[in-house]
Amino acid sequence: MERSFPKGFLWGAAGSAHQTEGNNVASDLWALENRPGTFFADRSGDACDSYHRWPEDLDIVRELGLNSYRFSLEWARIEPAEGRFSNAALAHYRRVIEGCLERGLTPVVTLHHFTSPLWFQQDGGWLSGEAVGRFRRYVRAVLPILGGVEWVCTINEPNLLAMMANLMRDKERTEGVAGAMPPPDQRTAEALAAAHLAAREELAGLRSGWTIASQNFEAAEGAVAERDAWARPREDQFLEVAKDDDFVGVQAYTRVIIGKDGALPVPDEARRTLTGWEFHPAALGDAVRYTAARLPGVPILVTENGIATARDAERVEYTRGALAGLHEAMAEGADVRGYLHWSLLDNYEWGSYEPTFGLVSVDRETFQRTLKPSARWLGEIARSGRLD
Ligand code: BGC
Repeated sequence: MERSFPKGFLWGAAGSAHQTEGNNVASDLWALENRPGTFFADRSGDACDSYHRWPEDLDIVRELGLNSYRFSLEWARIEPAEGRFSNAALAHYRRVIEGCLERGLTPVVTLHHFTSPLWFQQDGGWLSGEAVGRFRRYVRAVLPILGGVEWVCTINEPNLLAMMANLMRDKERTEGVAGAMPPPDQRTAEALAAAHLAAREELAGLRSGWTIASQNFEAAEGAVAERDAWARPREDQFLEVAKDDDFVGVQAYTRVIIGKDGALPVPDEARRTLTGWEFHPAALGDAVRYTAARLPGVPILVTENGIATARDAERVEYTRGALAGLHEAMAEGADVRGYLHWSLLDNYEWGSYEPTFGLVSVDRETFQRTLKPSARWLGEIARSGRLD
């Protein structure tokens, strides 16, 4: 069966600043990674050195036949000390944006992808009464470099951030899939929502939205009410915030089954990926349906979807299934504007370089990029607009 995607559909790949740039030394996560006795297996260190090698990354995206690239601006570089903005960092990101435009790539720019400046975190983070004003001031500072950018993601996965806030307080480490975590810290969730809306005010005139970690909560036998109660704080409340947005980002990888007493572990016999998540390509189509049903009239951009695997053929298998599901959801009426694969590079997976999501591998010593067959496969789909 042949499936066609609409003209003008965005086909791209994604990454984020902390995961690709390297030496993000003024950020909260850098401090955590480098403190004595850190629980992180790997430090981000030089990451993929994309702070210097971004032209090469953009060339790869273009040569593959993709037409879009998602990346994030690093607040900690732009405002390394409170109220002190770095013109050099702003000029750097302006060059990256222009680099996209010159290559005919549509930039999708995220303003906050998990990391914050250390000073911000040390002074109360999102729970400080100043947080929303601080974020607004940062957004104002980046506004002048966003000329020509059509898609701006304010905050990446606020639901995951708020769940992490809760988890970090007790255990200082995370395990498993986001959707199985304790509920979000509600004050953090509300601060993030307020920060998002403040950012949207500043960004008036640009297309802005936030990107949600779509968890595909499925009810075990007889547990529909429990599933709904589980989904409300972890996903639905964040979707509701997006009801007047210009778009919403769907980021789907897997599903989580909810029983009478909460999230069930992935069954022993299930096929898993390198992150331990269930191999479940249907996650994407289901997440798009779920989101479209809750946000009628809000266009969807798939801002992340992919798989951590050491076997590249498995990446193709997963992505083929995900795209088939996406096409089906679109045929049923979901208004989806593009698909951005996570990730372009084998980048820093928040504590480890082991789970490789990339279409492109990166030598950890020389930073040499090598295309995997999946990269060319996705590029061909992007060029033809068809999934065979
Ligand atoms: C995040 C990415 C992350 C990916 C895979 C999303 O939660 O936005 O930064 O690498 O999933 O875990």
